[in-house]
Amino acid sequence: MKQDVPKVLISEEEIAARIAQLGEQISRDYQGKNLLLISVLKGSVVFMADLMRAITIPMQIDFMSVSSYGSGVKTSGVVKIIKDLDQPIAGYDLLIVEDILDSGLTLSYLSEILQSRGPKSMKLVTLLDKPERRQIEVETHYVGFTIADEFVVGYGLDFNEKYRNLPYVGVLQ
Ligand code: IMP
Ligand code: MG
Repeated sequence: MKQDVPKVLISEEEIAARIAQLGEQISRDYQGKNLLLISVLKGSVVFMADLMRAITIPMQIDFMSVSSYGSGVKTSGVVKIIKDLDQPIAGYDLLIVEDILDSGLTLSYLSEILQSRGPKSMKLVTLLDKPERRQIEVETHYVGFTIADEFVVGYGLDFNEKYRNLPYVGVLQ
């Protein structure tokens, strides 16, 4: 099936360079800690795969899959857990790995769920941040790129489940 070719917003090279910096920073900050990266499927898998290889300290990974409840409730950010973590997280220094932070609703709800399980600490790394769209305040600890209010695809991000395989972040024309 033919796909349109989105216009490049952030190139493969720019993404790789930024992830190398984030990996260094995270490796420094989490030295001697009990780092557990948590990827929220599916958008963040590409970022997760690259970021974990840029981290040079011992660490573990886990995955979660959530879905929004019906459209009426969607704006509340309340999500249903489709696939939960494999292990308890008490005592771990969690780093939630996100593809993009938009309204912040999903993440804010998800972090409440995770916080209630008693991790030692919990922070967030997001590849992209669209601060103009925020509806609820979310503390962002590590941000790859801050972008304007545009719908982006590629590097894991989809439009109707397509474009996730693009190696760069692009804008549909
Ligand atoms: P929110 O922060 O609760 O609004 O949800 C963020 C989620 O919405 C992300 O994990 C993406 O799945 C999706 N999303 C938001 N903005 C974009 C975009 O520009 N492109 C693709 N997906 C997006
Ligand atoms: Mg999505």
